[in-house]
Amino acid sequence: MNESTVMTGTKSVALRGDRFSLFLDKAKIQARVDEIGAAISQEYEGKVPILIGVLNGSFMFIADLMRAIHIPCEIDFWKLSSYGAEKVSSGRVHELKKIDADLEGRHIIIVEDIVDTGLSMQYILERMREHEPASIKVVTLLHKPEATRVGVKLDYIGFRIPHLFVIGYGLDYGQQGRNLPEIYILDNPPEV
Ligand code: IMP
Repeated sequence: MNESTVMTGTKSVALRGDRFSLFLDKAKIQARVDEIGAAISQEYEGKVPILIGVLNGSFMFIADLMRAIHIPCEIDFWKLSSYGAEKVSSGRVHELKKIDADLEGRHIIIVEDIVDTGLSMQYILERMREHEPASIKVVTLLHKPEATRVGVKLDYIGFRIPHLFVIGYGLDYGQQGRNLPEIYILDNPPEV
């Protein structure tokens, strides 16, 4: 039995000295991803949208979401960084990988793992508009409404969650925990 077999599917996991409890299991996540995929398929019928995955956190979600979309669609990735190895958002955004596709006149669907302060999404939307696309919509698997400091329109939200740090299903803590198929929430949040 290897380490990841021990970690996955259990009610709690330890990562980098912190303990996290199971919050959303595989079935709940998949059911919601399927609903969002169906809604997107209906909304974009007759169009060929391009999904823009915000790396690294969205890689697992976007893979499942794309399989749940039943119309022709394309994919590209954009790599941003804001958290480093911290559990509290710094609010700083850096671009690490540019988008290769020509987005002019396209129907863009931005796919994020989580919207926390909203600063990353605000930056993403501003930069996306520069490409002069036909339309831009936002899909985020998770949203922390209590943490959000800027007004950004989120068109599809998987789950609204408390203002607590989460890992798994692509979301990391210092680059670890992304391989967990479920989403886990921090047990003892730091005092602020
Ligand atoms: P924002 O700019 O504060 O909204 O943060 C967005 C980015 O921070 C997300 O794309 C994630 O990469 C990261 N992030 C925010 N909250 C969490 C969390 O609870 N766990 C892991 N990463 C997070």
